[in-house]
Amino acid sequence: MSKNIVVLPGDGIGPEVMEPAVEILRRVGDFSIDERAIGGNAIDLFNDPLPQGTIDACLRADAVLLGSVGGPKWDNREDGLRPEQGLLRLRAALDVHANLRPVRAIPSLASLAAIKASRIMGTDYVLVRESLGGMYFGEKARTEDEAYDVCRITKQQVIDIGTTAFELALMRSGDLGRPPKVTSVDKANVLETSRFWRDHMTRLQETIYPELALEHIYVDNMEHQINSNPRRFDVIVTENTFGDILSEAGATLMGSMGLLPSVSVNKEGKPLAEPAGGSAPDIAGQEKANPLGMFGAVALMLEYLDQPEAAKAVRDAIDHALQRRFLRRRALTPDLGGRATTQQLSRAVLANL
Ligand code: NAD
Ligand code: IPM
Ligand code: MN
Repeated sequence: MSKNIVVLPGDGIGPEVMEPAVEILRRVGDFSIDERAIGGNAIDLFNDPLPQGTIDACLRADAVLLGSVGGPKWDNREDGLRPEQGLLRLRAALDVHANLRPVRAIPSLASLAAIKASRIMGTDYVLVRESLGGMYFGEKARTEDEAYDVCRITKQQVIDIGTTAFELALMRSGDLGRPPKVTSVDKANVLETSRFWRDHMTRLQETIYPELALEHIYVDNMEHQINSNPRRFDVIVTENTFGDILSEAGATLMGSMGLLPSVSVNKEGKPLAEPAGGSAPDIAGQEKANPLGMFGAVALMLEYLDQPEAAKAVRDAIDHALQRRFLRRRALTPDLGGRATTQQLSRAVLANL
């Protein structure tokens, strides 16, 4: 049966990478595509970063694929409307508690990354970010003299994200043939929310997942560990804001912000897939966007739609386009030091499908 996918191109480079992504989808399966507005363009059209029509379509859909939202045009509006509110409200409406960002070293690109190739090679971890709690969703206010964003997390939220991370570690352990390990990241030496997080994470592991190794690391040290010894990680679980910040270190390891895919899921496994990077206003409209993070997001979405063959076909086509023997500098987009356009790199992947 045909799956119903809502595509939300959004702002900046979003529509530029969405176009070839939809072409890939048409190539690998039978999908009905419903395109809707979100973010800045939805503010322009409907005065609302997440119009009701978009919410309804996303709730009905089997999966949602997002480009990116935001840009300087909408950063200082008098009415306070922001494109990013559209994405946060969509996460809440779909109840996607977990955001997964898989980081895998790409052998043919390791020498281009900012960190020594010898440290990067073999890196293969998934960052699991809690997506509905923390400062993002706590009470916020601003007066003439002060401002605050309350960081609030519930026991249920820790249990839900812990369960997702532990189950993922067990699954990966079976696939990769190594003992399951989860690294939980917090700031328990300072924050009450982190001590609460650590206590409930530990209790969950001890009571339901005793066979799994759980380690705790402070977020400041984690920044250093990801950069200096990324191979030691398997599944990383952390709070919303910490996860937002730490996930981009994964893009550095892979070689570009344009390479890191992301998928958010709810308890039923319904996916909201997107590239982890943003609307890249500095290169929007110039055919410079790297589309591979978006294609990786398509593969993740297909995985959660129970279409592992289609997902593998997309991943293989990406890998093939990146294999060393095909890697002449001009075959890459400018973020990787090349001169290829978004469309040229997209066609190289499509040709391998
Ligand atoms: P950004 O990720 O848009 O850009 C940061 C840097 O990475 C820029 O130099 C950009 O050119 C580069 N980059 C990002 N994606 C790329 C790609 N696919 N190919 C090549 N280069 C790429 O982050 P920012 O500049 O901090 O934010 C810009 C806007 O995007 C803001 O409005 C922000 O809120 C929004 N944003 C949206 C999302 C999302 O929709 N999921 C994610 C992050 C940021
Ligand atoms: C991301 C983005 C979003 C976030 C913004 C655009 C709301 O940075 O998906 O990483 O902070 O979650
Ligand atoms: Mn982010």
